[in-house]
Amino acid sequence: DHKKSITIQGAAYETDPQWFNVPSAVADATSRQLHLQKDHPISITRQIIESSFPIPTFKYHRTLSPVVSTYQNFDSLGFPKDHVGRAKSDTYYINETTLLRTHTSAHQADTFRADESDGYLIAADVYRRDAIDASHYPVFHQMEGAMSWDRTKVPDGDVAKAVWKDVEKLPKHNIKVEDPQPAWNDKTNPIQDKHHLVAEVEAIGSHLKRSLEAMVVDLFTRAKSAALKANPDFVDEPLQMRWVEAYFPFTSPSWELEVYYAGDWLEVLGCGVVKQELYINAGVPHKLGWAFGLGIDRLAMLLFKIPDIRLFWSQDPRFLSQFTGVSDSPSSLSRFVPFSKYPPALRDVSFWLPKDRDFHENDFMEVIRSIGGDAVEEVKLFDSFTHPKTGEQSRAYNVVYRSWDRTFTKEEANELHEQVRAQLIEKLGLRMR
Ligand code: PHE
Repeated sequence: DHKKSITIQGAAYETDPQWFNVPSAVADATSRQLHLQKDHPISITRQIIESSFPIPTFKYHRTLSPVVSTYQNFDSLGFPKDHVGRAKSDTYYINETTLLRTHTSAHQADTFRADESDGYLIAADVYRRDAIDASHYPVFHQMEGAMSWDRTKVPDGDVAKAVWKDVEKLPKHNIKVEDPQPAWNDKTNPIQDKHHLVAEVEAIGSHLKRSLEAMVVDLFTRAKSAALKANPDFVDEPLQMRWVEAYFPFTSPSWELEVYYAGDWLEVLGCGVVKQELYINAGVPHKLGWAFGLGIDRLAMLLFKIPDIRLFWSQDPRFLSQFTGVSDSPSSLSRFVPFSKYPPALRDVSFWLPKDRDFHENDFMEVIRSIGGDAVEEVKLFDSFTHPKTGEQSRAYNVVYRSWDRTFTKEEANELHEQVRAQLIEKLGLRMR
């Protein structure tokens, strides 16, 4: 009973049964647009980040369709043909060449080609098959940003000088930032020496880093004042950040920015100097610049102290009403006040892996989600072993069922879990133990 087409945001796409793996709950999520919903924490966080990159230098894109080609999502960015991200176990495909974007970078090439402004910001929903827990959901939100300079439009073609002038205009913050020098590494994180001068990379890298530091200072200052409002004993410590080397197929050199928050180093964003091939392929070879990408959901959780990513998808007024009016006055934020949780129902499932096909944990997670929906709070591996004689492999997981609005009776939880087991047998060929 394979459906021949799927409609997403009003457009119909032909599906291919060999590739199609989009569950209906995920397809339905494409219509939610949480990043545009007034007074939704995802939208508020988007708005706050945007305010660090003002128009007209930056142009905002917020309604790009989540359906893109494999070319846009991977090839245009230089991902190798055998990159793991392309696997059906990691990505939602509509057909062989059409998928739900896994990151906002899928729009980089097209946005550079459109060449409408010096900079741009893209806010959008992105889709990845993944584990189930408090910080992972198959749909989340990203913000992509880029800024470019035009060699033909800067005085004497001296891009470095023009960029340093811009760097001087950026706010100077009294914060602790670790930024080990030199900023690149010839082997692991090289300059694109066919295209760029050292002076240009230094200038663009500094502009990138100072711009993103300013954004993070703004965001965490708001998070801290919300924390202080909720708890007058909150100890305000100096904000610490550090730049670490990173790798992305479409930037070089590349970095990640980490922030020290509540006792942990937290990875906030990835970024780098845009690979010149992107500008060349986009028909703007005389441009050069930087790009970054970050996850909005995790920052929104931190900003408002929201304990579980599933809450963003809740229509419960006890959640949504707490943010009423914030879009219009985002200068003073309040933390989320958790409403009482209902008790969880814990069930185990243990099974032998099939011998005749591969087992992908993400497929397993998805079967559980397809039945339990947002009532599945977490799925956790607790045992894994190989039989010494037969070589057969066994796995055992805890499944935590918990609803936000009621207690599951023992019978309901049993019934749900029975359905899960039956579907695992039917869909994945698992043998229950
Ligand atoms: N798209 C990358 C990710 O999802 C982030 C990124 C964007 C890195 C732009 C560099 C430049 O991890």
